[in-house]
Amino acid sequence: MNGTTSSFMDLTFHVQTFGCQMNKHDSERVTGMLESLGSSCVETIEDADVVVFMTCCVREAADVRLLGQVASMKNVPLRKGSPLEKRIIAVGGCIGQRDGDKLFGELPHLDVVFGTNNLASLPGMLKGVLEGDRHVVETLEESESFPTDLPITRENSWAAWLPITIGCNNFCTYCIVPYVRGREKSRTLEDIVDEAKRYVSAGVKEITLLGQNVNSYGRDLYGKPRFADVLEAVADTGIERLRFATSHPKDLTDEVIAKFGTLDALMPALHLPAQSGSDSILKAMHRSYTVEHYLGLIEKLRDVKPGISLSTDIIVGFPGETEQDFMGTYRLVEEVGYSQVFTFIYSKREGTPAASYFDDTPREVIQERFDRLREVVERGAYDFNQAQKGHVVDVLIEGASKKDSRIATGHSPENINVHAPIPEGAVLEDLVGKIVPVKIEEARTWYLRGTMV
Ligand code: SAH
Ligand code: SF4
Ligand code: F3S
Repeated sequence: MNGTTSSFMDLTFHVQTFGCQMNKHDSERVTGMLESLGSSCVETIEDADVVVFMTCCVREAADVRLLGQVASMKNVPLRKGSPLEKRIIAVGGCIGQRDGDKLFGELPHLDVVFGTNNLASLPGMLKGVLEGDRHVVETLEESESFPTDLPITRENSWAAWLPITIGCNNFCTYCIVPYVRGREKSRTLEDIVDEAKRYVSAGVKEITLLGQNVNSYGRDLYGKPRFADVLEAVADTGIERLRFATSHPKDLTDEVIAKFGTLDALMPALHLPAQSGSDSILKAMHRSYTVEHYLGLIEKLRDVKPGISLSTDIIVGFPGETEQDFMGTYRLVEEVGYSQVFTFIYSKREGTPAASYFDDTPREVIQERFDRLREVVERGAYDFNQAQKGHVVDVLIEGASKKDSRIATGHSPENINVHAPIPEGAVLEDLVGKIVPVKIEEARTWYLRGTMV
């Protein structure tokens, strides 16, 4: 590896990340690998000799934006003092996995394409380019192992993402993820707990367990450990805050719900994607639950943890969605009272079953439904936040507000953004990564404001 290391020593690199936390986590591994070879991570594309795009194709907009950005890289001059004659551009993540070497046709100035199962190969591929190779590609269908032994440079020191499964077996009819992330694979409980323990000793305050559907954890493992066992074991490591994403409602068990009542570290917030509030649309989406079942889960969660903060994902304009179907979604959102809703207009993804479903709903009708839904989403978030007024909440401080450097920001246990002025005599650096109590005085739709106590 010595030859490789020396060729990487003088290089700067930048990783540009799109998409979900899985990609963000993969980017941390890419950064970790390149740093361990001696390259330096830089803030901007302009300063980078090597640019790695970690891409997402879950919706068309992301796809188009990325390809545009890679195309425009042609016009970005190389930094002064670069040891290279030409910047090296690599595309990884889900578009890399989906399109493979087809990308070189559209983007001839691209050098490397790697898939979601090929992170570990990236240094070798880049080395090939440094030695004169052109158009290097690797997109394995499945990875033999979990990429957990790769070096990692975490985005910040107080919070960590910890993947417990990769891939997805659900094949919701609109979704491309199972095609670009492969079948679901679980990491062993031992491996998960080891990583969690390392984080705790390194001073990490918050761990978020990751998987496309964490609730189906362990079905592929010997002894079939369950997700509730993971929660229990990770909470036992002494971590202060524990979260997880994402949960498929069809697999959320009573046992997991009960953990919200028994594990102090498990934060009172749950992201539970509903996708739709119409049974016939849910069926067409292949979601395998009904609105009634979903609402039953919400009721149980609130029994166990009153005040729990619920968030969800909703797709508007799935093929064949009628006004009546949409109103089901509208009422569901209104009834649950989410603190946050990620709303998406259905985007046709080639290769998924829904891409061939008939649809004649005009674009304007879908947009108008989307706008109506946004209103009820904002009302729900506003009401949820109003109820926090007067409470003292523990905030994990993450940094300063972008608009005002005298204001610290962070998240409450309910995962609501909280702003609080930095007290007289205190410095931000001492607060970052700490959990501080804040008395909430003001509540807006997307954040709370208060005073540190
Ligand atoms: N595994 C997670 C998240 C998958 S992608 C889950 O099951 O919840 C994140 C969100 O993107 C999905 O929840 C869905 O709401 C949205 N999404 C996925 N495919 C989409 C498509 N083709 N069009 C619009 N939204 C989509
Ligand atoms: Fe996509 Fe459904 Fe899997 Fe989530 S559970 S990643 S929406 S197929
Ligand atoms: Fe996007 Fe891939 Fe995640 S398609 S949402 S980055 S799994």
